[in-house]
Amino acid sequence: MESLVITGGNPIQGKISVEGAKNSVLPILAASLLSKDKEGIWLDQIPRLQDVDVMIHILKDLGVQVKMQGRNLFLDTRSLEKDVVEDYHNNRMRSSIFLMGPLLGRMGKVTIGYPGGCRIGERPIDLHLKGLSKMGIKINMKGHRIEATGFPKGALIHLDAPSVGATENLMMAGVLAKGETVISNAAKEPEIVDLQNFIIKMGGRITGAGTDTIKIKGVDALSGGTYQVIPDRIVAGTYLLAAAATKGELLLENIIPRHLEALCAKLGEAGAELEKGDDYIWLRGKELKSLEIRTLPYPGFPTDLQPPMTSLLTQAQGASMVKENVFEGRFDYLEELNKMGANVTKIENRKAIIKGKTPLTGAKVNATDLRAGAALVIAGLVAKGHTTISNIFHLDRGYERIEEKFRNLNACIERRKDDNENAFQQSS
Ligand code: EPZ
Repeated sequence: MESLVITGGNPIQGKISVEGAKNSVLPILAASLLSKDKEGIWLDQIPRLQDVDVMIHILKDLGVQVKMQGRNLFLDTRSLEKDVVEDYHNNRMRSSIFLMGPLLGRMGKVTIGYPGGCRIGERPIDLHLKGLSKMGIKINMKGHRIEATGFPKGALIHLDAPSVGATENLMMAGVLAKGETVISNAAKEPEIVDLQNFIIKMGGRITGAGTDTIKIKGVDALSGGTYQVIPDRIVAGTYLLAAAATKGELLLENIIPRHLEALCAKLGEAGAELEKGDDYIWLRGKELKSLEIRTLPYPGFPTDLQPPMTSLLTQAQGASMVKENVFEGRFDYLEELNKMGANVTKIENRKAIIKGKTPLTGAKVNATDLRAGAALVIAGLVAKGHTTISNIFHLDRGYERIEEKFRNLNACIERRKDDNENAFQQSS
């Protein structure tokens, strides 16, 4: 296993261009199965992340021919050999659940493991399954596996909650369906608009992504083509928060500022200096004032930036409050922050009070999930002394070479193999 070792105190400064969005490229890789055109599909500038590698493994296992040229990925999806998503993959990444829509549209059948919960929540998929049933799909549970059969038919679906994954799964199920599918109370995240734009580029007929009503008119087949996903707004937001927390100065390039509206509004309210252009955001960190944060579906404050924001709030003067309205278990990292000298108290399950400003001191801490890891990196960059963050495989799921990127921004940070691993290597 590997750890990150950070010597804190350096302000994050410089400029950085942001990689493609993990939460766009994952559904778009799944959607590529809807096409069996001989032209194939090129996805340009894809981020090099663990979760993307797992999704590519799954596609290859299903029979897709894959070729990587630098950061550009070519997919020949003509010959799908199976409609079973093996547990090995499914257990490693719960987002594989949105392979159901494309495989049903293409093959009329899919067998997949029921994705477990994770540290941040139980992660149910009832909205996915209810929507697919409305589209005429037969859903059978066989042990921990789901066996779904039938070719989707157009339907009117109202989502009980604006679930990102359910919206994406049902959009993809509607692409080759007979008739029109209308999804109301749909999620409005930018990654859903990106998925719509990809499907339209391949000849699909979708309108309304980014609003709460999405209409999909079924077509007979999709073409091939080339597509580049949007920049990752959560990675971008993490760097902005690191610069604000360390009173640095950062120029974020190659982003879509509108996607970070909620974060920028809160950083400005806290006292950071910001300037936005068409494809950049510049930030200078200042003394920080306390805030109230409530996570909500887009365009509200994103739940994925809640942990990194909480780290910043340990450096804000006064008492801040963070309310986590999306996932029920997204505060596991608070005790790790308190090990570093933060003064954060969890009230009930979904509310935290952060008393700042508290000096942070380096410590040995453990990343409990992807964005919790990001929170600990920010805390380590602020803290006096050395911080060692273990289990950083979580971070590698969503941040490309995070230590390299932060080193290029004046941070003192390195990746180390854990001692037992070193010891093992020396003895063997
Ligand atoms: C997506 O997860 C993202 N993952 C998450 O990013 C992100 O935090 C989340 O959307 C919210 O923005 C990907 O896109 C791969 P949801 P998803 O379905 O689709 C409940 C990261 O760090 N719900 O919008 O799983 C659910 O329990 C990850 O990059 C149901 O009740 O999120 C949760 O409380 C973490 N039934 C809420 O909806 C369902 O059938 C939001 O979940 C589905 C969801």
